[in-house]
Amino acid sequence: MKVDIQRAVELLKSGEVVAIPTETVYGLAAVISNPQGIGKIFSTKKRPFFDPLIVHVSSLKQAQEICSSWGEVAQALAEAFWPGPLTLVLPKSDKVSDLITSGLPTVGVRWPRHPQCLELLKDLGIPVAAPSANLFGKTSPSRAEHVESEFQGLVPVLDGGASEVGIESTIVRVDGNSLQILRSGVITLSQVKDALERKKVNYQIDSVIHQRQAPGMMKHHYMPQVPLVLVHPGKKFDAVEALEMIRQAPAQIDGVTLVKPKSLCTPKELVLPEDSGLAARRLYTELRKVADQGADVILFYVKPSHLGEDWLGIMDRLTKAASIEFR
Ligand code: TXA
Ligand code: MG
Repeated sequence: MKVDIQRAVELLKSGEVVAIPTETVYGLAAVISNPQGIGKIFSTKKRPFFDPLIVHVSSLKQAQEICSSWGEVAQALAEAFWPGPLTLVLPKSDKVSDLITSGLPTVGVRWPRHPQCLELLKDLGIPVAAPSANLFGKTSPSRAEHVESEFQGLVPVLDGGASEVGIESTIVRVDGNSLQILRSGVITLSQVKDALERKKVNYQIDSVIHQRQAPGMMKHHYMPQVPLVLVHPGKKFDAVEALEMIRQAPAQIDGVTLVKPKSLCTPKELVLPEDSGLAARRLYTELRKVADQGADVILFYVKPSHLGEDWLGIMDRLTKAASIEFR
């Protein structure tokens, strides 16, 4: 069911969830001040409570209010990339409940740049928590139609067209002057470093990710309805071997059910543009399209050009969406 901004604001204020457009992917939103709405995000997505939500704001002031510390690294990154596809993980203030952060002392905060999303946030006057608007472990939505089909039209959606970036935000955890990329996106580590160096901010990169600081980084995620198989450079897809590998793989990993086919007779290839920006924009639409074409396996051939930093976010999604890999 599609709704306009005014109706979306009314629904959110009354403690309902609404799917909202952002430049990365569509989010399933609820206001941060209403625990009932936040609870509905988890039940609608079938998301486990251990996986924290990102809070979306429409000003620097709102971002600072939900954080208990805001240092020079946060300030420099916010100035360089907000509004935009960057999430900062920072110590939380008491305006953010433990339900939103899954009991973590930190909160993920993002100021998105999608015009309708910003208009909604401004009208609302309160930040919203929003994970991607898909069922837990499944392919993220980059169009209103994806949300409608995912939830059989039961979730109200504000249609803001196709998401311009197409994959989820880059997540950077900031702890004093040290920082860490928790999830790759179109904003790369090199761009983050450049921004900090330009502003002459001291920083260290911490490359070890601790599971308890990043509970949502499951091995599998973004899975289409049909199993995806990655074929690395120099490798060949072999249906018999693939079937055996899939048969032997565990049924569930980190609570995500692995998509397993009965046969692998009808492969379809996922083809993405060479340009990484365009590839990111098209990724989830193409993945859904091929899955709907009656194939029983989707093949993606990894090319050497996919191994560059600009493809890191896309390759992260494809690797997690894949049931098996030929490498
Ligand atoms: O682009 C995006 O980030 C989209 C749009 C809707 O803004 N949102 C999104 O949310 O991708 P979600 O919930 O699908 O992914 C957020 C990730 C999860 O893996 C979660 O574990 C992690 O962010 N996260 C959230 N808060 C965190 C925190 N305090 N510490 C560590 N990880 C956190
Ligand atoms: Mg998600």
